[in-house]
Amino acid sequence: MLRRRSPLAALASAAGFSLLAAAVIPTAADADALTTRQTTALTTGLTTGPATALITGPASARATFTPGSAGVGDPYFPKAGNGGYDVGHYDLNLRFDPKSRRLSATATITAAATQDLSRFDLDFSGPKIHKVEVNGRKAAYTRKGQELIITPKSGLPSGATFTVEVSYAGKPKAINDEALGLEGWINTKDGAVVLSEPDGARSWFPANDTPRDKATFTFHVTAPVNVTVLANGEPKNPGIVGVRNGYTTVKWEMTQPMATYLAMVAIGKFKVTEGVVNGVPNITAYDPALAKQAKYLHRTTAKAIKWESKVFGAYPFSSTGGIADKLGVAYSLETQGRPVYDGGSEMAGDDLVIVHELAHQWFGDSVGVRSWKDIWLNEGFATYAEWLYEEQHGGSSAQKTFARDYKQKGRFWKVKTGDPGKAELFNGDAIYTRGAMTLHALRKKIGDETFFKLLPAWAEENRHGTVTTQDFVDLAEKLSGQDLDGLFDAWLYHAGKPAL
Ligand code: TRP
Ligand code: ZN
Repeated sequence: MLRRRSPLAALASAAGFSLLAAAVIPTAADADALTTRQTTALTTGLTTGPATALITGPASARATFTPGSAGVGDPYFPKAGNGGYDVGHYDLNLRFDPKSRRLSATATITAAATQDLSRFDLDFSGPKIHKVEVNGRKAAYTRKGQELIITPKSGLPSGATFTVEVSYAGKPKAINDEALGLEGWINTKDGAVVLSEPDGARSWFPANDTPRDKATFTFHVTAPVNVTVLANGEPKNPGIVGVRNGYTTVKWEMTQPMATYLAMVAIGKFKVTEGVVNGVPNITAYDPALAKQAKYLHRTTAKAIKWESKVFGAYPFSSTGGIADKLGVAYSLETQGRPVYDGGSEMAGDDLVIVHELAHQWFGDSVGVRSWKDIWLNEGFATYAEWLYEEQHGGSSAQKTFARDYKQKGRFWKVKTGDPGKAELFNGDAIYTRGAMTLHALRKKIGDETFFKLLPAWAEENRHGTVTTQDFVDLAEKLSGQDLDGLFDAWLYHAGKPAL
């Protein structure tokens, strides 16, 4: 569906409190009472497991509670995300022991029902669950593939806010996708780091694992005193909130809405450098084995944020930084507010990689995709940021880079940039390079003046929201006053070299 939502509605739903829900709070309370009265009927209906639990009662109070769907309709990841609710907040309480690699955790999720729910799913592929509670009462659950199917004692009326608490323990494992490689929970020599794009969040916490449902996050992480813990956002002052039996607990908070795949914790031996850039904390950390890259990572992060804020507009988060560790995944990830660099392949020592991951803070993180097929809106933009950075720092012009790549033949043009298929989600040619070329072709057509207004306008209009390619086409047409369907159609939805 290529319909745009108003930024306000997107924000409200990202925060988990839809405008609709806010408007019906008194009704939701009534509905709660109603549900409590009818708990027996509902529970009976549910335990026999019909697709629809019809609640009997006074005609005026009759309501039909149905299960939330097991996915949100992303064709690349049909089971990812779930229907029937919007998450507002995740509170992840994690205890990790690097020696045994055992995680014991409680995830508390605050959500708002968007339909009358008899039951709902979370995505979860992590270790053994020992308890699930909804609104503080034990709930029945089953696991089926990546779905954690939860049946609360009473139905959840549309508009009502509810909490789900899932406790689990064991050794989390990375997800190893044939086409996409390793993602999710990655154990390291002295700890663990998570990087979960596109669907690895479920390896370590129960999630509504779709980029459409952003939420705020709190992390409470307990680990041995000799290791350091970082996460998205900022550490809560005074940082360490508890010390017990050789373990410390730290609290970090991400207070801007975040997609589940961008949630990150890093546990291990880290040297941390703290500074300030553009008025926000710059917190970088590196594995001591990567000491040579440390200063470079910190300084280049500050430099990139300053330059990008000029080109893309106000930085969207309340802190920045980066984490370099030896992960062996051979990619870096734009985890929100603080990217992770796989130092094993020297990525934190390459200014263009740092520019790329930080450009994602605007394009990918703050302005997020609704569907994975639109991944070029992330990778094409971050790659074009590299081209622009080179152009404006004495390197080759974007035009020169474009011309070089335009000469490519054959398979370079094979995959469709605007709908690559799951296996080609991170195809370097089709998504990264041709995504950037699409933007350059647009720049040439609409001119520099409009193009360099379009980039910050796109970031500003959709700040902390989610978008589709059509939204971008619409904005580009609005600002340029030109019909751009032909250009985008040729560059995004056809295999083969577009004519110039
Ligand atoms: N988004 C990452 C980047 O900035 C790349 C990435 C994430 C990736 N997950 C991946 C690449 C899985 C390959 C496989 O470039
Ligand atoms: Zn990228």
